[in-house]
Amino acid sequence: MRPAIALYLVTYAVGVVGQTWCGKNYMLGSPMAPPGGQFPLPTTTNQPLLAFRCAPAIKPYLASDKSGSIIVDTGLTHLKVEGAVPFYAKSNSTLAVSVTVNGCLLASGSVPVNATGLELPFSLSSLKPQKGPLTISCTAISEDDFNFKAISELKFMPDPTEGSVTKMDLRTGALMVQSNGGRGSTWEPIFPIGFYTGFDNYLAANLSVINNLKARGFTVIHPIPTFGNLTALNEVLDRMEEVGIFLMYDMRFSYMNNTAVTEQVNMIKSRKNLLLWYTGDEPDGTSDPLNSTTISYDLINELDGYHPVSLVLNCQDYQFTAYTRGTDIVMQDTYPIDINATFSAVYHTPCASDCGVCGCDNCKGNFDDISSRMEEFKWRLDVLGDKRNKPVWAVPQAFGGEEFWPRTPTGNEFLVQSVLSINHGALGIVPWDDPTPADVKESATQLALAMPAINKFLFDPHSTFGPVNTNGVDIGIWKSGSQTLLLATNLNYAPTTVTIGDVFAITSNEILNSGGSVQMDSNGQLHISLDSVGTVGFVL
Ligand SMILES: *[C@@H]1O[C@H](CO)[C@@H](O)[C@H](O)[C@H]1NC(C)=O
Ligand SMILES: *[C@@H]1O[C@H](CO)[C@@H](O)[C@H](O)[C@H]1NC(C)=O
Ligand SMILES: *[C@@H]1O[C@H](CO)[C@@H](O)[C@H](O)[C@H]1NC(C)=O
Ligand SMILES: *[C@@H]1O[C@H](CO)[C@@H](O)[C@H](O)[C@H]1NC(C)=O
Ligand SMILES: *[C@@H]1O[C@H](CO)[C@@H](O)[C@H](O)[C@H]1NC(C)=O
Ligand SMILES: *[C@@H]1O[C@H](CO)[C@@H](O)[C@H](O)[C@H]1NC(C)=O
Ligand SMILES: *[C@@H]1O[C@H](CO)[C@@H](O)[C@H](O)[C@H]1NC(C)=O
Repeated sequence: MRPAIALYLVTYAVGVVGQTWCGKNYMLGSPMAPPGGQFPLPTTTNQPLLAFRCAPAIKPYLASDKSGSIIVDTGLTHLKVEGAVPFYAKSNSTLAVSVTVNGCLLASGSVPVNATGLELPFSLSSLKPQKGPLTISCTAISEDDFNFKAISELKFMPDPTEGSVTKMDLRTGALMVQSNGGRGSTWEPIFPIGFYTGFDNYLAANLSVINNLKARGFTVIHPIPTFGNLTALNEVLDRMEEVGIFLMYDMRFSYMNNTAVTEQVNMIKSRKNLLLWYTGDEPDGTSDPLNSTTISYDLINELDGYHPVSLVLNCQDYQFTAYTRGTDIVMQDTYPIDINATFSAVYHTPCASDCGVCGCDNCKGNFDDISSRMEEFKWRLDVLGDKRNKPVWAVPQAFGGEEFWPRTPTGNEFLVQSVLSINHGALGIVPWDDPTPADVKESATQLALAMPAINKFLFDPHSTFGPVNTNGVDIGIWKSGSQTLLLATNLNYAPTTVTIGDVFAITSNEILNSGGSVQMDSNGQLHISLDSVGTVGFVL
């Protein structure tokens, strides 16, 4: 829950019985009741299932693109996930895959069973660019003649006459922009890192703030509405475009009003530095109508279609499927720093799975809440068949001293939240909110400046990833070519040393350090020593 939204709720809650957050009653004296809306757990099966899936590598392709590829996944599972069917063929067999559009063959190739991310190339020359998506049908036939089917959408659009395009690389989950702040010719992956940022009191009040944010390495600014003064909004957006920092455009207060969405999308869509749209701000918290995110998603795509749509979910498990249906990017904002996760000092009620609001839904009140949330969201998207299509981003806590959150995190705690999120799959970091204390800003700057070195690993479709969690130290290890990226963060409020094997390195290049060191011994063991809530990043 956001301070601004919570205050608004309080205002409206006066005299209202049955006010809820995440579907739970939270006013003193209101009854406990299960909120409903839980994500249905898939059943398990003894017989292995084949989850055959296909997706375009890039979304959207443009008329100026010559070729593309279809990504094929053929995972075996014992969970009845979306589209999975019993697999009776030999588990080492090969599948003959063909991909058609309107009955015409687009791509084909042979793919092993239980493979991830195989690409079948195709030429775009046989297709005609169009605004709406094309349906692609994928078929896989095993050596012993079992048949599997999947469908997906392919976007192949005319080049826009003005404004930029943000592509999604579904191999890695990266957003792709044209170089030189949206003006260049080559496509580059971007790791969106930048705060939800105060508008009237901050950005509009001093445009040099924007130059300062750019110099600190931030790649996006997410201005917080409302934007009552359009002259001021245009001045801010012009300056952002000038310095080459991308825009995440927030329609939180109006995303359910089609007239207002239409006005804003038409006003903003030609901006060269528009990266993506943002609709629902915790729609699950306020129980917005279940069709609200898809209604705005469809409308935005009809009006624009060249930029992805995002939203943030605040609840641990409330109507996940309905709300995520209307977005390309799923953000989570888990704010656990020093909170009381079981008793609400604001509403004087307990917090549990069927009641109360404590500022972090179904949380324990520690850093693990963040990694659990990341993993749960990714897992549910996988169950829904959407893991590839919908990357997850994180909203670290960069505020405090109000409502449920007794204090602001330190800079080190900010880095723990952020690096923990990246180790658990976050492909964007958009903290709430700036202005933020100076030490948080400094730590965020360090991370932003380290991102180019980290991106090379996150956005290499052929890199491999291995997580390690030991003694309260969370470690992510990526390998790309002959190089290794190591991000290690200490969740303990005490110095901690851990040792991991199988990481061979001759040299190491420090990219991030808020208190710690690594040492390689002669047996190829890596000793990582971290200060209390310290974080290090090395390229080995
Ligand atoms: C699959 O495994 C079986 C034995 O388990 C073996 O006889 C067969 O050659 C294998 N097929 C392939 C394509 O590797
Ligand atoms: C499929 O691949 C996964 C992950 O690589 C592996 O854990 C699993 O054992 C494989 N399943 C089979 C039946 O080969
Ligand atoms: C405006 O922002 C810049 C960059 O952060 C800062 O150096 C300057 O002091 C600010 N000016 C005012 C009047 O606050
Ligand atoms: C709107 O913003 C502009 C530019 O910052 C400013 O000059 C103008 O006074 C503002 N108008 C109002 C009504 O606040
Ligand atoms: C919807 O947005 C339009 C345009 O901004 C506005 O005139 C109208 O009052 C809004 N409707 C509601 C119900 O808020
Ligand atoms: C969205 O759902 C609401 C009920 O919550 C319903 O009244 C409305 O008609 C639906 N809108 C559309 C466009 O389906
Ligand atoms: C939460 O608040 C309750 C009631 O004041 C108290 O008993 C409990 O110790 C607090 N827990 C934490 C972790 O602060």
